[in-house]
Amino acid sequence: MNELIHTLCEAWGPSGHEGRVRQIIEGLVDDLVDEMRVDALGNLVCRVAPAPGVDPETAPRLMLAAHMDEIGVIVTHVDEAGYLRFAPVGGVIVGSLPGKRVTFEDGSVGVINVERREDASRQPGLDHLYIDVGAADKSAVTQGVGDAASFRQAVDWAGGRPIAANHDDRIGCVVLVETLRRLKRGPNAVYAVFTVQEEIGLRGATTSGYGVAPDAAIAIDVTGSGDTPKGMKMDVHLGKGPAIKVKDGGMIAHRGLRALMEQRAEEAGIAFQLEVLTGGTTDAMAIQTSRAGVPAGCVSIPSRYVHSPSQLVDMQDVEGAVQLLCAVAEGSLADL
Ligand code: CO
Ligand code: ZN
Repeated sequence: MNELIHTLCEAWGPSGHEGRVRQIIEGLVDDLVDEMRVDALGNLVCRVAPAPGVDPETAPRLMLAAHMDEIGVIVTHVDEAGYLRFAPVGGVIVGSLPGKRVTFEDGSVGVINVERREDASRQPGLDHLYIDVGAADKSAVTQGVGDAASFRQAVDWAGGRPIAANHDDRIGCVVLVETLRRLKRGPNAVYAVFTVQEEIGLRGATTSGYGVAPDAAIAIDVTGSGDTPKGMKMDVHLGKGPAIKVKDGGMIAHRGLRALMEQRAEEAGIAFQLEVLTGGTTDAMAIQTSRAGVPAGCVSIPSRYVHSPSQLVDMQDVEGAVQLLCAVAEGSLADL
């Protein structure tokens, strides 16, 4: 999976600009699925038919969703000296930005910094930040209003743990691709959906959840961790296994689906943690209230520094998430 992490995390794709990521995933899963389509918003919807002998028309539909987009910035203004001002795309942490590099769609690079302020003891706001693209003046700037940028994309490894600007949610895409590689056909029709525009309001999950009309749905996304110095009081730690969501800022996971995931993890000997996240949510929130309602839950990859330009995850949790998703997708959903 290490190679897959480089392939997916080093692809450019802020919200609304997921085309490159989608193209890569299409190439990766083409031989693994029975059907693939792209909907009007750009979601990639892949279907794996149930085992031979199971009626594909009546087989329960399980939707697994990971979002392809990542947070970033978008240019709002170019000044005479050639500096760019910008707005956030998604929940960017302003304090983490000064000194960070951004990459535009054409591969050009800029660095974010802070203008000099009277009272430098206070945290800078977004309107104090600018992007320096190395231009001598406005006439030399190749970027314009409306151009999006992502944070620097090279993946580094620290103590065997990958650091990326976009583990949220490329690591979820890695888990879902790897799940498709290992998945054995079972009683369910499995819909692997790579969604768009999660970071700006679960837009892709809203339409693809309606389109697939699943009988159960699991989002694969990152969550926080409580294992950093004076960190938040959260009983999720890196390396202790994937987290099964109980609740986050947007939803309460379906009790039956959560219990089923815990049971399958125990049966298969997969270490897991229970997650209560006080802020933020995932694609599962949108799918849960789709149509007349869908039992929905989430398998989360514990991550440090979520939404900062350097996010850190543990490979054991990534591996455990793949195993858990296979165990759930290959078994019966009748007990929900
Ligand atoms: Co996010
Ligand atoms: Zn996410």
